[in-house]
Amino acid sequence: MSNKLVSVKDYEIYAVKTLPKTVLGYYTSGACEEYTLSQNKQAFNRLRIIPRMLRNVCNRDYSVTVLGNRVRIPIGISPCAMHKMAHEDGECASAKAAGKHGAIFIHATLSTCSIEEVARAAPDTIKWFQLYIYKDKEMTKTLIRRAERAGYKALVLTVDAPVFGIRYIDIKNNFSLPSHLRLGNFTEEKSVISKSDGSGLTNYVTSLFEEKLVWEDVKWLKSITNLPIVVKGILSVADAKIAADIGCHAVFVSNHGGRQLDTAPASIEALPSIVKEVGHRIDVYLDCGIRHGTDVFKALALGAKMVFLAQPILWGLTYDGQKGVEDVLEIIINEFDNTMALTGCRTLADIEKDMVVHESIYSKL
Ligand code: GLV
Repeated sequence: MSNKLVSVKDYEIYAVKTLPKTVLGYYTSGACEEYTLSQNKQAFNRLRIIPRMLRNVCNRDYSVTVLGNRVRIPIGISPCAMHKMAHEDGECASAKAAGKHGAIFIHATLSTCSIEEVARAAPDTIKWFQLYIYKDKEMTKTLIRRAERAGYKALVLTVDAPVFGIRYIDIKNNFSLPSHLRLGNFTEEKSVISKSDGSGLTNYVTSLFEEKLVWEDVKWLKSITNLPIVVKGILSVADAKIAADIGCHAVFVSNHGGRQLDTAPASIEALPSIVKEVGHRIDVYLDCGIRHGTDVFKALALGAKMVFLAQPILWGLTYDGQKGVEDVLEIIINEFDNTMALTGCRTLADIEKDMVVHESIYSKL
């Protein structure tokens, strides 16, 4: 058999064999028993796609306008921290790869390349900035101003992390940022995740992130920037409704890759009721568990406007930097295109909700 990598799984196998144990542990860990982590994929597998036939699928087109920008595909890169642990080119490589495919890149606060470095490396990529609110509000404001100045098009506020989830693997490995690396957006003590007994990242978050975040802080954020606000980490209808009511531009259905509250629902399980409640008022996006083009199709059919991926991007980055990320995106996009053709869909508007059903409807057979 050839060594050619043709699926996301192939890239994952390569990364698992290659990355240092502590880095792999950090990139792959979920909270506690990792129930939610595993459900993120299994919940997709419980859904079936019912294809339609004879609908002329020539000239397929997946472009869509998101927060005022036209993008070529409804697939983007989710915020994930510290890309330089996978490849020395870090987030600059991932952002450039996103641009090659006309995909959105979400730059994480805890990145190893700075806002400005990524803006310089990937000027043509549509970039959003994922924000953690630090106890130091002035510094948080500075981050926002830097993202605005660098041409980022939206703020993605992560709201599911007043504290970090308990990740046993990171505790066992005493996770820290390798000493030759720094968090690119900061200087001094905010730029290092030091070695300690247990997870160095948990210590970082506990000492620096704002634990008493409330919806008033989202209003504060709205009051200090004109960038659209996407609230990430929403799993309940009630929270989605508040986000829409206070004028956020989108909610991002996410359980943070199963890394925060264990036994929280899979994102795809939480999606339909949130779409039903707010989908006619604001955009709804989704991440967590997407590994195939069929997963993208399922999320779009259930009402997500865009989907985002994290782990597969890190596997591509590990394999071959920018080229590896481009190849992984190519695989997902190609699978999505194939799914569209085989389901009789030429554009995103052709995807119908009842093309995706829960497997239980077949269980009586
Ligand atoms: C960072 O956001 C993480 O979940 O580790």
